[in-house]
Amino acid sequence: MTSKEIRQSFIDFFKKYDHKFVPSSSVVPFDDPTLLFTNAGMNQFKNIFLGIEKRDYTRAANTQKCIRVSGKHNDLEEVGKDTYHHTFFEMLGNWSFGDYYKKEAIAWAWELLTDVWKLPKDKLYATVFREDDEAYELWKQVTDIDPSHISRFDEKDNFWEMGEVGPCGPCSEIHIDLGPDACDKKHVEGHVCAVNGGCARYIELWNLVFIQYNRENDGSLIELPSKHVDTGMGFERIVAVMQNVGSNYDTDLFTPILAKISELSGKAYHDGNEGMAHRVIADHVRALTFAIADGALPSNEGRGYVLRRILRRAARYARTLELHEPVIYKLVPTIVEIMGDAFPEIKEKHQYISMVIKSEEESFGHTLDRGIDLFEKLVAEYKAKGVNQISGEDAFRLYDTYGFPMDLTRLMAEEKNMTIDEAGFEREMELQRERARKAGKWDYGLDVNWDEWTKVSDGKDSEFVGYDALESDATIRLFKKEMEHVYLVLDKTPFYAESGGQVGDVGEIQGDGFVLSVENTVKQGEKIVHIAKGDFPNSVKNPTVRARVKRDQRMSTARNHTATHLLQAALRQVLGSHVHQSGSLVTPFRLRFDLTHFERISPHHRRPPRGLHHTDALSPSPLRPH
Ligand code: ALA
Repeated sequence: MTSKEIRQSFIDFFKKYDHKFVPSSSVVPFDDPTLLFTNAGMNQFKNIFLGIEKRDYTRAANTQKCIRVSGKHNDLEEVGKDTYHHTFFEMLGNWSFGDYYKKEAIAWAWELLTDVWKLPKDKLYATVFREDDEAYELWKQVTDIDPSHISRFDEKDNFWEMGEVGPCGPCSEIHIDLGPDACDKKHVEGHVCAVNGGCARYIELWNLVFIQYNRENDGSLIELPSKHVDTGMGFERIVAVMQNVGSNYDTDLFTPILAKISELSGKAYHDGNEGMAHRVIADHVRALTFAIADGALPSNEGRGYVLRRILRRAARYARTLELHEPVIYKLVPTIVEIMGDAFPEIKEKHQYISMVIKSEEESFGHTLDRGIDLFEKLVAEYKAKGVNQISGEDAFRLYDTYGFPMDLTRLMAEEKNMTIDEAGFEREMELQRERARKAGKWDYGLDVNWDEWTKVSDGKDSEFVGYDALESDATIRLFKKEMEHVYLVLDKTPFYAESGGQVGDVGEIQGDGFVLSVENTVKQGEKIVHIAKGDFPNSVKNPTVRARVKRDQRMSTARNHTATHLLQAALRQVLGSHVHQSGSLVTPFRLRFDLTHFERISPHHRRPPRGLHHTDALSPSPLRPH
């Protein structure tokens, strides 16, 4: 069966048992602040499990796009080393929302695997949670599994949780024995192949979770109003099993990507260690493609930062195949060919996805080659001396002179079994800040010599358009690169500059081949200066950018600004109309209001009867809404 057929046959099987096909949700869970990426099929049903939401169906099935590179489920470091871990994968799943429970979940899973897909029963194993006698008995009653193939495990293996908080419960897993040759831990002393034994011989195929609790913020478990079923089967793994190949990378989900990498690099793919670069790139480009299609972008924080890490890891491995030009983006059409029917969004956005990946590769590529050379030299010197820790100074040099991101240095060090003196690195950073301050190079309290800035385009600058929009197209007028920062002046901007005790906006400026993270916005005379970080070209060919203010922070600042007005009005009512603001600080997180009053203000001050004092109308705020 092809991967497409396997996917479809899973969905059809559950449709037969009255399950509704619900399309995969976005792999970027914009509406769930507890998650960076969608990490399981159940994410989109979380509120149904919690009893907060109801749908007009109680059984569902689908294939869900998942990324596991952060938080509780993080496989990034494993990817490429073996043949069955991925950053991005599909999870086939079926769900019951207060409908059927353990019995049907177990019986149907067994039926699909052994009856429909004809997997050998004597190679299948079931696990249940230590205390779950019910599931244990059901395996014996409703399936013809060899009873000696059922075993019990503890929380680590058989109690599934979505994250630090969220729906959870005991689970029952189905594993398959792929035979002694599949073991990848033969060289590990004392290793014994077993279910949950950590090698590639017995691999987990399907997890049936019996959701009955919610893990609360304080760590406690509370019983949910109803009981549910949440199952997840690793699609890439089942395809490998069904296609009778030893590795997920040998399935039709990956072979075209690997072939393309071989074509581009002139280097053939190998199953063993030598194939790691191919595997890392093939895996990572899938994660990038789907995350970007769903609206994420590489950047310096949050999920954008995770994507950047993934891209840089792939780019770094591409170098080991002697691919020095951007190449990852060239794999996007192959992925679209393999998966575009099941996930039309990647077909629709393929040009955009390629463009984003390419520009990120370009901006990173320049520094990478030089950085890698230096790094290799350093490591050789250290190893010769028998030292296993890279000094803070060297890590800083890679960072400062070669623009080498710290996380990558860390990653490369790990691969050489080395560590980095992190505290030493921080000290160097602080020293640099100190030097910069002493040299008076950039201090936004000082006059700025505009002659030292690079002029990109002519015309008026610094028109503030942020009353009405938090996002705007703009044109770079001037820029200056200094230490790790780049300073930009635009023709117009939605970024509010620090003034009158109110902090400046933060956000993002995205241009042709770069995305900068704006850390603050300040005024220099009449000019609005964006203080940003990120890879920025030395010469700007295309001055057009998109400037985006971080909405949450702006809104919190606006609310705190409004609160200063409310506070002022209240103070005037309580203390008298002489109260004026003599200073204030407004940030997204707090506000401070300074005033002078002729006596100590005590908690006993009470609001006087209405009419004794009048309140001035609120003065206009630099930020809306009031
Ligand atoms: N939610 C379960 C898992 O991810 C099925 O394994």
